[in-house]
Amino acid sequence: MSDYAPSTEFADQAVGKAGLFDEAAADHEAFWAARAHEYVTWSKDFDTTLDWSDAPFAQWFVGGELNVAYNCVDRHVDAGNGDRVALHFVAASGEGRSISYADLQREVAKAANALESLGVAKGDRVAVYMPMIPEAVVTMLACARIGAPHSVVFGGFSAEALKARIEDGEAKVVVTSDGQFRKGKAMPLKTAVDKAVPGTTAEKVLVVQRTGIDVDWDDSRDVWWHDAVDGASEEHEAQPHGSEHPLFILYTSGTTGKPKGILHTTGGYLTQCAYTNSVVHDVHPESDVYWCTADIGWVTGHSYIVYGPLANGATQVLYEGTPDSPHQGIFWEIVEKYKVSILYTAPTAVRTFMKWGREIPDKYDLSSIRVLGSVGEPINPEAWRWYRDVIGGGSAPIVDTWWQTETGAIMNSPLPGVTALEPGSSQRAIPGIHAEILDDEGQPLTEPEQVGYLVLTKPWPSMLRGIWGDPERYKETYWSRFGPKYYFAGDGAKYDEDGNIWILGRVDDVMNISGHRLSTAEIESALVSHKQVAEAAVVGASDETTGQAAVAFVILREHGESADAQGDELVTELRNHVGQEIGPIAKPRSIMVVDELPKTRSGKIMRRLLKDVAENREVGDVSTLADSSVMSQIKDGIDKPSSD
Ligand code: PRX
Repeated sequence: MSDYAPSTEFADQAVGKAGLFDEAAADHEAFWAARAHEYVTWSKDFDTTLDWSDAPFAQWFVGGELNVAYNCVDRHVDAGNGDRVALHFVAASGEGRSISYADLQREVAKAANALESLGVAKGDRVAVYMPMIPEAVVTMLACARIGAPHSVVFGGFSAEALKARIEDGEAKVVVTSDGQFRKGKAMPLKTAVDKAVPGTTAEKVLVVQRTGIDVDWDDSRDVWWHDAVDGASEEHEAQPHGSEHPLFILYTSGTTGKPKGILHTTGGYLTQCAYTNSVVHDVHPESDVYWCTADIGWVTGHSYIVYGPLANGATQVLYEGTPDSPHQGIFWEIVEKYKVSILYTAPTAVRTFMKWGREIPDKYDLSSIRVLGSVGEPINPEAWRWYRDVIGGGSAPIVDTWWQTETGAIMNSPLPGVTALEPGSSQRAIPGIHAEILDDEGQPLTEPEQVGYLVLTKPWPSMLRGIWGDPERYKETYWSRFGPKYYFAGDGAKYDEDGNIWILGRVDDVMNISGHRLSTAEIESALVSHKQVAEAAVVGASDETTGQAAVAFVILREHGESADAQGDELVTELRNHVGQEIGPIAKPRSIMVVDELPKTRSGKIMRRLLKDVAENREVGDVSTLADSSVMSQIKDGIDKPSSD
């Protein structure tokens, strides 16, 4: 049994009550219709809650019309809360600036006018490649206001990755900044856009001057934010858009080398983001200070910085920097200064703080914290307890939230005022969500400790509506394994004795590195695009801090006479090459040069065996290998690893 039941005081004040479970169980659609009316202001009410007749292509709140930016900004001003702080922006330098809802309304209106003057109209796609600055949030909301789907590309991705995303989404405009601050230094950002844009559909590049570093400039294409936005009108009429109008595309790794453009739409997405932020994070907008530490380049930043909390009228921290700069106590300095009451971060960050030692957070007053959240990967019970004791004062509930880019919003999680917590497990589907674990034959598992596949058995409002431009891949990836009506999440899972769901990680060739998804195929294709690499296999090996890390095995081509790199130098070059092709987050932790890869007789690489090597385990059964001596050759080579 759990030692972590909610206190009566917490339960009494919690937004999410146990009755939600009963309401959802009684009538799935009526439950969600009620949430849509509770959390969203509709310009025109919907007439059908769910149309699932064309499964797996769902339509939610059909006939309804709304404007997401109006919901996230204007309506709070209309309600008399214009003076409430929307964003406490903390710059990488540590300097702060507070932006009220009234300020945000003016900025979003100006940016919407500026984007329209650059030719952006409803339906056009806008790529966003920006650091964590208020203009990024403003840009996303301005796009939502116009009805122009944004495609945010994480600022750590390379020019090549950005180009592929601009091309796939056929973006008309790219919004970026001259540079970004990283550990106290101004680093270029626009240079990647300059490389990515030529030859694509992008006609204009809107550039925020963030660092003042020198940039190349193309007068026919580039426009400074301060020229286009600062002088634009503060009035912008928010037109209502259909509930199923596309809100954004966000690329995520799948099992092939080509990232998938996950498509989210308007009414259902906003409803579930606002509802979950309210009942899971327990946000009381009038009193809480909420801080989600994700980057807006990932789905967590979309749903739990921009759309959920702003729809709820919350006050939040937006932090430009990293946890280790200007010093390792910066997170706690921010918590103390702004009296952060709800902190939502990733297990990899918690493990890093643990490694740095509790003396650092202990120097700060963290007593304002009353709810903690975790997202992106399983949080190991040891890190969970440390998080609760050291950061949460031994009493803050931790909501371990399981969800995906595809699900759009939280799916499995405790409700902090209801659930007795189980460290390491995201526990159960929240009210309105239906999850099950199936065995290989698609039969529901009922016994504890049996390992199966996590599926979602009913459509939910914030579900992805497809893969941009590829309906077949959408059906094949998510709805064929246990389809046509069950969504397969790609995660292995099991129940414990108490019926809690434990997520066991991906069952496909997708790695989870510091809570970020990367496919082994993507890194392999980056490696083989290097002239010296003939073949590559990448596996995700467990890593104490980052959860998983990429470990690569490469076979080199015959050496030509050119001055090709060798040994350690080559490994460094290959790591940098992957950094250039995808981004620094994709650089393998180590690269081993081998003569052969373990393959079955049909030529399939046996990653399981490579994983054994990468995780320093006894190598498993090699009997299905075409050449069973390969693994001993690799093992022998590894004893003198060539990694940097
Ligand atoms: O494997 C699960 C893991 O992250 C995957 C989704 O990754 P992404 O789309 O990048 O979204 C991350 C932020 C929502 C899932 O398939 N994952 C996410 N949250 C958890 C988790 N694994 C265990 N526990 C979690 N709380």
